[in-house]
Amino acid sequence: MTVLTENPTRSITTPMVAIHPELAGKVAVITGAARGMGAIFARGLARQGVHVVAADINEADVVQTAADLNAMHNSSETAGRVIGTAVDVTVPEAHDALLQTALDKFGRVDFWINNAGIFPQAEILDITPQQINSTYQVNLNGVLFGAQTAARHMKENGGGSIINMASVAAVRVRVTRGAYNSSKAAVKHLTNCLAVELGPHNIRVNAVAPGFIDTEMTRWVHEQPGALDNALGTIPLRRIGAPEEVFGTLLFLLSDSARYVTGTTIAVDGGSQHI
Ligand SMILES: NC(=O)c1ccc[n+]([C@@H]2O[C@H](COP(=O)([O-])OP(=O)(O)OC[C@H]3O[C@@H](n4cnc5c(N)ncnc54)[C@H](O)[C@@H]3O)[C@@H](O)[C@H]2O)c1
Repeated sequence: MTVLTENPTRSITTPMVAIHPELAGKVAVITGAARGMGAIFARGLARQGVHVVAADINEADVVQTAADLNAMHNSSETAGRVIGTAVDVTVPEAHDALLQTALDKFGRVDFWINNAGIFPQAEILDITPQQINSTYQVNLNGVLFGAQTAARHMKENGGGSIINMASVAAVRVRVTRGAYNSSKAAVKHLTNCLAVELGPHNIRVNAVAPGFIDTEMTRWVHEQPGALDNALGTIPLRRIGAPEEVFGTLLFLLSDSARYVTGTTIAVDGGSQHI
């Protein structure tokens, strides 16, 4: 509560304390893990004893992130290991290479988190063919290709869990973000399609739909005059969320507590889907 008192609009970054012993020794692939939510997911899962392949288009940064996380957990006997590696999620074969890295390093893959995303801006009449294509390639095609690679492996290995990053923008219009909004709406529905077709193979597929979360992607909200007040006006809890708070929901979805949950999108948005 101290953080709330000191600065009521900032996010609360206290780590979640839920412990899921059933996750120890499992293996997760996370895309877009060089920074932001992907890096926090990698840290949180490693703390639960999950081995993580952290992948990003920015290879140097993701390798550094992995090294930092391993150093952070150096004194822990129970923490999972984190490997940093390159991936461009728009390339189907790159996902296959990522799977192979995970198998080479850890021998299995239980969880696949399609987290990489981009957030371009343009008024609707100014969206260029290049912008709509690149947005859909990363935010939508990247999710499909990742899920396909993961599911081919999981089908042969008794099942698994896939999580896709949607957004509150899947259900609410955020002006000047038409390409992004529509790509995330497609991710939400694609999640349902994947869940229905993959359920018989014991593969659960769910999405998380964050609202405003404090990362590089939303740094502009602290920089542009008036942007923070406007954003807070769309958030009933009247503060920006922390990546750690999204991790709490991701952890639930991966855990046995959610073993009968599939085809669902959980909002982690301070209530902003309703405004
Ligand atoms: N921050 C928010 O408020 C918010 C809200 C809703 C949804 N999301 C979604 O959550 C996810 C993570 O967002 P974040 O805030 O941590 O963003 P971020 O910009 O901090 O991190 C995104 C990461 O994805 C990587 N990436 C981009 N293109 C890639 C590609 N082609 N291949 C591999 N990696 C690529 C980037 O290098 C970066 O490290 C995204 O899908 C985003 O759309 C974010």
